[in-house]
Amino acid sequence: MIQVDLNNKNILVTGASSGIGKEIARFLMEMNANVALHCFRNKNSAKELAAFYPHTNSRTFQADLESPQEAESMWRKVLDYYERIDVVIFNAAVFLKHHTEEELSKWFKVWEKTIRVNLDTPALISRLAINHFKEEGGGRMVFIGSRAAFRGETQEYLAYAASKGGLTSLSRSIARSFGKFNIKSFTIAPGFVKTKMAEQFIKDHGENMILNELSLKELTVPSDISPLIGLICSGGMDHATGATIDINAGSHIR
Ligand SMILES: NC(=O)c1ccc[n+]([C@@H]2O[C@H](COP(=O)([O-])OP(=O)(O)OC[C@H]3O[C@@H](n4cnc5c(N)ncnc54)[C@H](OP(=O)(O)O)[C@@H]3O)[C@@H](O)[C@H]2O)c1
Repeated sequence: MIQVDLNNKNILVTGASSGIGKEIARFLMEMNANVALHCFRNKNSAKELAAFYPHTNSRTFQADLESPQEAESMWRKVLDYYERIDVVIFNAAVFLKHHTEEELSKWFKVWEKTIRVNLDTPALISRLAINHFKEEGGGRMVFIGSRAAFRGETQEYLAYAASKGGLTSLSRSIARSFGKFNIKSFTIAPGFVKTKMAEQFIKDHGENMILNELSLKELTVPSDISPLIGLICSGGMDHATGATIDINAGSHIR
């Protein structure tokens, strides 16, 4: 039997106030981890979740991850509080539409924001984490990527798919470069997952269109992802470092 106990592990989850990140944070606290729940606009949501797990040393940290300064300051605050971080889950992201027929500067603004939040900031935090993990004798990173990096996205989401492609390469390069420092890095590539992020897509295309793409009968929900993250945090997946794990209900089998 596999038992995951994350007692004494300090884990930073970005975007822990909503959707997949919130469920990952919940699962990790359920497994007794101390979770630094990062949030941006929905601080109350993350705070309320942490309050359910008083036996863990979990608390919220607010930052706009479009700002490199705020991202670095958040990392310092988390480190000041916990002194040691064992795992970083890079989950926060934006999924913004920008149609190619829009005015160029408007289109490019969305491109820049998407790349900033979804790729630049995770890169900056991963750079800080690499140095910290080297000092501590190791650590793990999990990047929440996307099926979009492999299958491609529809034209309204060019920036999003590109950001996830970059994130996947970053994760793989970290795994190759720092394994000897006991640093492991993984990418999770979900397909469609029923969260706030996906609401607009459901409105535009309808749930049936998404269901028709799946080989399974039901849409993926955040709790289909969190157990795997728990296993990665426990060390049970270490020899899969560098891997991208698809969780897409059989909609894109590579
Ligand atoms: N849902 C899907 O179909 C799907 C598919 C493939 C991959 N993914 C990936 O899964 C991850 C989670 O997505 P989700 O569906 O759970 O989305 P979600 O419910 O919209 O949650 C997004 C999270 O990102 C945070 N965030 C957004 N902009 C931010 C900013 N500027 N600074 C800091 N934090 C920011 C939000 O914080 P606040 O709410 O506190 O503002 C929220 O916690 C993302 O990386 C996404 O790309 C999702």
